[in-house]
Amino acid sequence: MLSTTDNELLTRTGPGTPGGAMMRAYWQPVALSRELEADVPLAVRAFSEDLVLFRDGAGKPQLIGRYCPHRLVDLSYGRVEDGGLRCIYHGWLLSGDGRCLDQPGERTPFKDRIRHPAYPCFEAGGLVFAYLGAGAPPRRPQYEFFALDPKYVWAGKLHHDCNWLQGHEGNVDPQHLSYLHRYLSQTEALDPKGNLLFGGDVAPSIEPEETAYGMRIKTVRGAPGGAKYVRITNHMMPNCGSFGGVPMFDPAAGPAPDENSGYQLHWHVPIDDGTHWKYTLLFNRERALDKGFVTDRLFGEQKSFYSRRNRANHHLQDRDEMRRVSFVGVGRNFFDHDKLATEVQGPGPILDRSQEHLGTTDRPVMLMRRLLLQAVKDVADGRDPLFVERDGAPDAIAGMRVEVVVEPPPAKSPELAPAK
Ligand code: FES
Ligand SMILES: [Fe+2]
Repeated sequence: MLSTTDNELLTRTGPGTPGGAMMRAYWQPVALSRELEADVPLAVRAFSEDLVLFRDGAGKPQLIGRYCPHRLVDLSYGRVEDGGLRCIYHGWLLSGDGRCLDQPGERTPFKDRIRHPAYPCFEAGGLVFAYLGAGAPPRRPQYEFFALDPKYVWAGKLHHDCNWLQGHEGNVDPQHLSYLHRYLSQTEALDPKGNLLFGGDVAPSIEPEETAYGMRIKTVRGAPGGAKYVRITNHMMPNCGSFGGVPMFDPAAGPAPDENSGYQLHWHVPIDDGTHWKYTLLFNRERALDKGFVTDRLFGEQKSFYSRRNRANHHLQDRDEMRRVSFVGVGRNFFDHDKLATEVQGPGPILDRSQEHLGTTDRPVMLMRRLLLQAVKDVADGRDPLFVERDGAPDAIAGMRVEVVVEPPPAKSPELAPAK
């Protein structure tokens, strides 16, 4: 459990909150590159702040406050022109660094006195990252997929109707794979091998360990024939998880590359305190992805960023499907399973952590909360929190391992010859 005070500290991320200051100390994904056309601004809401993203004359993403400083018209209706974003009401022109470049109706312009909210951005791996914090931004994270050709990387996002933290806590909860994501038979499973291994041992050993980027989790399940199924997954401060063993290639298209030749990352980024975006990125180092297959497999029945399943329609849970197909009865898609479980944690949309009863399988959740609370304190005290890196500091993410391994049973030691 968590005290109500600490729960509030971690789940409230709007402007002026300690939790919000902590989350803003990191570069955060705020859009997919493919959402942002050359001349069409995109409304973005992040950390309870209304923003607008547009591409400048050089095609670089720029993120500024959504409401025009003149009379607060929504700039997502604006025109991308003259190196900035021009408001459709009276034609003021705003630049990506928050300056007003033009006030065409003013005979005595006062544009130099205007300072509009503006946040630094960069684009990599199909995502647009922004820094919404105070002071100089930290060094950009050194994710391996930044250096890959876009053919090897897929990025998407799914809307979640709950607070960011319960979404992300699912990333550090390996035991739920044995239940929430279980199919009732191998023929029904999207990933029969994974289904066999997760279902074969529902009480894994789970060891969380603090690292320079956040937390590593080693999960060991018993596997057929005395083997061990070992998964190394991670929490990257403050709201990202990484996992391997994700089927990325259509089995009908031939043998897939080694399952440790790529992995998946999930960021849970607050829209406000009651909703968030789950950004998902998946990459493979060895083979270009079939993006149609990945989209179908991950987002399945909903091809938009919003699922048709929600609390109002009881997530379309199907009792007949629960008898024949899957444990949870909301289709074959893991994303829908996770969305359901985290959206219905009580009383919603923010889980009341003071009412929980945590067990040994929840040790990663407990450690992650401690790391996040420490980070809130660090930022409040003016220190860089864990995994905010400055130039010259070691690259923590370089030490991150993401692995799935089936270890064979130990060989029998030879019989000792009887003493003579
Ligand atoms: S409201 Fe934007 S220019 Fe007047
Ligand atoms: Fe899950």
